[in-house]
Amino acid sequence: MTGRGGVVFVLFGATGSLAARKILPALFNLKLDGQLPEPFVLLGLGRRPLDDGVLAAHYREAVGRHSRRGEPAQADWDAFAVALRYLSFDVQEPQDYARLAELLESQARAWNTLPDVVFYLAVPPSLFATAVQYLAAQGLHRERARVRVVVEKPLGYDLESFLAINAELCRHFHEGQIFRIDHFLGKETVQNVLALRFANPIFEPIWNRNYVDHVAITVAEREGIGERGGYYERTGALRDMVQNHLIQLLCLTAMEPPVSYAPEEIRSRKMDVMNALRRIEPHTIHQVAARGQYRGGWLGGDRVQAYREEQDVAPGSHTETFAAVRAFVDNWRWQGVPFYLRSGKRLAADLSEIAIRFRSVPHCFFPGCVGLNAAPAQLVVRIKPDQGVRLHFAAKEPGYCMCLKPVQMRFNYREAFGTDVPAAYETLLRDLMEGDPTLFMRADQVEAAWRWLMPLVDFWTHNPPPDFPNYNPGSWGPEAADLLVAADGRAWLSPGEVG
Ligand code: BG6
Repeated sequence: MTGRGGVVFVLFGATGSLAARKILPALFNLKLDGQLPEPFVLLGLGRRPLDDGVLAAHYREAVGRHSRRGEPAQADWDAFAVALRYLSFDVQEPQDYARLAELLESQARAWNTLPDVVFYLAVPPSLFATAVQYLAAQGLHRERARVRVVVEKPLGYDLESFLAINAELCRHFHEGQIFRIDHFLGKETVQNVLALRFANPIFEPIWNRNYVDHVAITVAEREGIGERGGYYERTGALRDMVQNHLIQLLCLTAMEPPVSYAPEEIRSRKMDVMNALRRIEPHTIHQVAARGQYRGGWLGGDRVQAYREEQDVAPGSHTETFAAVRAFVDNWRWQGVPFYLRSGKRLAADLSEIAIRFRSVPHCFFPGCVGLNAAPAQLVVRIKPDQGVRLHFAAKEPGYCMCLKPVQMRFNYREAFGTDVPAAYETLLRDLMEGDPTLFMRADQVEAAWRWLMPLVDFWTHNPPPDFPNYNPGSWGPEAADLLVAADGRAWLSPGEVG
């Protein structure tokens, strides 16, 4: 690993929910897997006056609850907890940055070497500018090779706010120091799209408009908005999921083969896809996108609230909890192939997948072949609930008559490798400490994603939905989403096909 001089992981927002749910479980699992650099210190920054022991107890509870490995063994925890420190800190107080600088210096002296330093801004985006400005005022941004700053999506609320945040980050830090997290990129199956496509010569020849009818990318959740109403009211499904996670999945599916595994090469091939996305024209919005908001009702035997009844949500809210978009990638490979993206809360299943639907047979000569064209072959990369790949195709049903039935060939990560898949944050934090930016978002790609979506963002903002709430919990979203694909003579995956 890099970090030959060790790593000081400075965590802004140390007592927040991102730290408890994702960052600490990931760091602890890296330690268990022998992937944490040595020496390592986590310096948690938060407003509350706490001591190191209280922070450690809080994190132990969080790791027990959120780690994929469950409750930590005492000896493992003790070995990790010695690296936890707390500094009571106000992001908006310049003096506190001077104390931080002193602490970093004394750590370097104690280790007798210059450590790598990660500034992880797990705080609201409205504080990013202040934090980087004060870090820079202390000279803590210098030393490009050793110092990194990390920010999480959502990066901005629209194009303008993204550009403002980014300008502030780039004023003080070099692009190579800025690590923008979209945690979907750390998911094992998401990375497996590259392996599947480019390590298996059987797929690439058919990965184009000649064989692919359309691509459907679904990220569906059964959960409602829970306690995140305050955040979600300003965000909605389009900004929360489509602008980042779904676009990343689209780019990995559609990109051209990279020349090498170099970070900039892969990121540039993804950027080529962004450049080829067909512009969304405001007068075509109804043919390009659909939105929805969940009603109250019954889900799996439980009564669930409507979005408008959730905590911190306005009773007449226009925020969408479901978004579907039809995209076209205008290049040689994908001309005319629709990419349907959809994501929503309170849907029928927890299901994330990329489905590549192949064309129907050009001529069907089988007797009784009704089933064949109803279920054309598809390759499905499953991200959730299980991780793997399935090939759906038609086979002859055993018996005397020539009858065709859809069947599946499955690859499942857990069964194939007999091991647990690392959580996305584990992969990302390891890469971050290694200084490998491949799985992080480059500024131009985030900007391009905002540019592409802005006509839709603007249209939805200025044209309130007439029919919200418009879908039932446990459904696959509003009728408008079905009509979006039906207008092209197609249909979404139906609940019966999930399994
Ligand atoms: C987050 C969104 O980025 O991703 C959440 O803000 C969403 O609204 C979550 O629930 C889904 O991620 P995962 O890894 O649980 O599928």
